[in-house]
Amino acid sequence: MICVCAQQKGGVGKTTSAINVAALLALAGRRVLAVDVDPQFALTRRLGIGLGQLERTVVDVLAGWVDAGEAIIPGVHGLDVLPATRELAGVELALAGEVGRESVLRDALAGLTYDAVVIDTPSNLGLLTVNALVTADVVVAPVAADDEGAAQGVAELRATIAKLGRIRQQVPVLSVIVTKAKPRRVMSDVIDGALTSLGLEPVTRVPDRAAVEQADVARTPIAISAPDSAVTLAYRELVEHLEARWVIA
Ligand SMILES: Nc1ncnc2c1ncn2[C@@H]1O[C@H](COP(=O)(O)OP(=O)(O)OP(=O)(O)O)[C@@H](O)[C@H]1O
Ligand SMILES: [Mg+2]
Repeated sequence: MICVCAQQKGGVGKTTSAINVAALLALAGRRVLAVDVDPQFALTRRLGIGLGQLERTVVDVLAGWVDAGEAIIPGVHGLDVLPATRELAGVELALAGEVGRESVLRDALAGLTYDAVVIDTPSNLGLLTVNALVTADVVVAPVAADDEGAAQGVAELRATIAKLGRIRQQVPVLSVIVTKAKPRRVMSDVIDGALTSLGLEPVTRVPDRAAVEQADVARTPIAISAPDSAVTLAYRELVEHLEARWVIA
């Protein structure tokens, strides 16, 4: 199963979701690869991978210099990680002129055997995100409970996914989650209404908790550092949804 966290709206919880979905699948005994295709490399950083320790990254893989297996860092909080650096922005520009530019990541990951691959993407619908969408079985789109624009972002993401039909036979399933949820907020009703009008029902609601940012700083997924927290429980619901839909070996 390849799960891609995407949404062109920034700061909605893509990276947080990718890290915790990956961590929970790994805790359940799955072999999991987390892939960072964001030039801001937040996933790489928040898993505690120092840039100094990186000889090869997803940059080298997408440029075609090495196989994915040569750039994967094994055993980071139970995950294998294909990390990113800032140089990814340059690779995106270089890819733009190439034939088959939308499926470079899919081809690069094709030979790997993981139970699940979880991919974090940048906050735009550019070529790196499109490469991730082309590989995806499921796209998890976070909508922050205080961000009306994020609901609109889902509509645009869905339109982009529909266009993938030109490149691949089966388009991925879109699963929406609400993040940073606070009880009894007027804006939450507005967001819910916007999602309902799009025909979308959130799979889970992740509560707003300062512990999420603390986990970023501690460089450890909250699913690992606080397994009983409300945030972890909400992400577990998402993982159960994914596991039920894609029977993972
Ligand atoms: N449930 C939550 N409760 C509180 N804070 C959260 C929650 N989820 C995410 N955050 C915080 O919100 C900020 C943005 O989250 P995150 O980096 O996951 O979003 P993103 O969509 O990946 O952002 P970007 O568009 O910059 O890649 C981070 O500081 C993170 O700690
Ligand atoms: Mg991010």
